[in-house]
Amino acid sequence: MTKNNWKVQPDIILNTSPVMPVMVIQDLDDAVPLARALVAGGIKVLEITLRTPIALDAIRLISQEVEGAIVGAGTITTPEHLKAAEAAGAVFAISPGLTPKLLAAAQEGTIALIPGISTLSELMFGMEYGLDHFKFFPAEAAGGIPMLKSIAGPMPNVTFCPTGGISPENYNSYLQLSNVACVGGSWLAPTDVVKAKNWAKVTDLAKQAIERAV
Ligand code: 3PG
Repeated sequence: MTKNNWKVQPDIILNTSPVMPVMVIQDLDDAVPLARALVAGGIKVLEITLRTPIALDAIRLISQEVEGAIVGAGTITTPEHLKAAEAAGAVFAISPGLTPKLLAAAQEGTIALIPGISTLSELMFGMEYGLDHFKFFPAEAAGGIPMLKSIAGPMPNVTFCPTGGISPENYNSYLQLSNVACVGGSWLAPTDVVKAKNWAKVTDLAKQAIERAV
C-alpha cells in the first residue's frame, strides 16, 4: 500500500536513518530538547510512542519546533490512535501489530502506517493490503535474526524495521540482513538519561549509533 497521498512514504521512513529511537516521553518539557538532541546526533526519524498522556502534545510540539525531524507516532493500535496522531502532526505511524480495522483506516488516511508482524501469516495479511514495509516486533523474542533470514526466502521483497530487544551490541547484525532497512530501540533515549535531562548524552548515543552502523 504505497499510497501517493501519504505525506512521507514508508521507504523514506525506514531508509533515512539506520536507527529509530522508540521514545516514551513522560514530561512534555522534555519533548523538544530530547528531539533536538537526537537530530543533533544525526537521527532524523523519531518514533514517539502513545504510551503516555502527553504523547500527542509531544508529537505536536516536536513537529512544530524541531527542524529536520521526521515525526512519527508509535504504539498505534486503533483507527482512533491513527487519526489522533495525524491530527497532532505525525507524518507516519507505527504499530506493534495489525488488525483489519487499522489497515483499513490507514488506506483512508494521509499518513503511512508501518504495522508490526511476528509471523508469516500476519505478514501475508498485511501484504494483501499492498504493504511491503513492516516493523518486526518483538524482534528478539519472535525469532530475531534467524527468523528474518527465514522470511527473506519466501518474501524477498519485504523490508523490516526490527524492534524489541535491539541494543548497541546486536543492532549491526540486524542491519546486515538483506531485508532490514533500520532498527528501532529505546536504548537511544534511555529513561534515566531523559529523566536527568542529559541531552549531551542523548546526542552522543545517537552519534555513536550512526557512526558505528554498518
Ligand atoms: C517498541 O515498542 O518498539 C519496543 O518497546 C522497543 O523495545 P526495546 O525497549 O527493547 O528497545
